[in-house]
Amino acid sequence: MNLTLHVWRQKNAQSEGRFVTYQAKNIIPDMSFLEMLDVVNQELIMKGEEPIAFEHDCREGICGSCGMVINGYPHGGHRGTTACQLHMRHFKDGDTITIEPWRARAFPVMKDLIVDRSAFDRIIQAGGFISANTGVAQDANAILVPKQNADAAMDAAACIGCGACVAACPNASAMLFTAAKIAHLGLLPQGQPERYTRVVRMVEQMDKEGFGGCTNIGECAAACPKVIPLDVIARMNRDLLVAKIKGVG
Ligand code: SF4
Ligand code: FES
Repeated sequence: MNLTLHVWRQKNAQSEGRFVTYQAKNIIPDMSFLEMLDVVNQELIMKGEEPIAFEHDCREGICGSCGMVINGYPHGGHRGTTACQLHMRHFKDGDTITIEPWRARAFPVMKDLIVDRSAFDRIIQAGGFISANTGVAQDANAILVPKQNADAAMDAAACIGCGACVAACPNASAMLFTAAKIAHLGLLPQGQPERYTRVVRMVEQMDKEGFGGCTNIGECAAACPKVIPLDVIARMNRDLLVAKIKGVG
């Protein structure tokens, strides 16, 4: 396949960015989206030009680093798929593809398609942990966890911190990410000691970072490659309300 790419190029956080057009030639449909970018970058390097900067690590849909907006959709808009797991067979020969970084005030662009997602780290640092001594492996079975809670906690723990939810939301809200991290710990017995301080501190940090509020649009859940459900946000709001009633924080 031969494709035309419009790619956001931006030298650094201070400089202005712009779209630059490239031709992606001889792309094999079984290549991943990132492999297609590798081919384009190889050609740029051979010509002595600066390759397109994008973040990636696992290329298996588990690390959350490969975020980019493809034709207006975070990760390309195929349900349950990260950019690294998106394959070129979803495109047709002759297609034009627009590629941009996440756009949110709390995720400033560092270079080309790479944004600074350290705001997510600071939300985790504010309360995304437990202090309970979990003991050794066999002790795990000493505390019984209802099956539905274990399943729901595991589903929430699937969040890879990619930021697609923020990129998809017209308010650039980080509610789905924050709520997933809160649900993951708050549904388990080991997460109970900090349950209410956790929600207060993580929501405070989320607001401090400049993410917008949730207005129930639901684009976050639609864009999430790990299909985190919206009801984690309802759970976070309930915990926040209880925390306020208890006078926590
Ligand atoms: S909730 Fe989904 S979209 Fe948001 S950071 Fe987690 S995995 Fe990515
Ligand atoms: S590179 Fe790890 S999720 Fe895409």
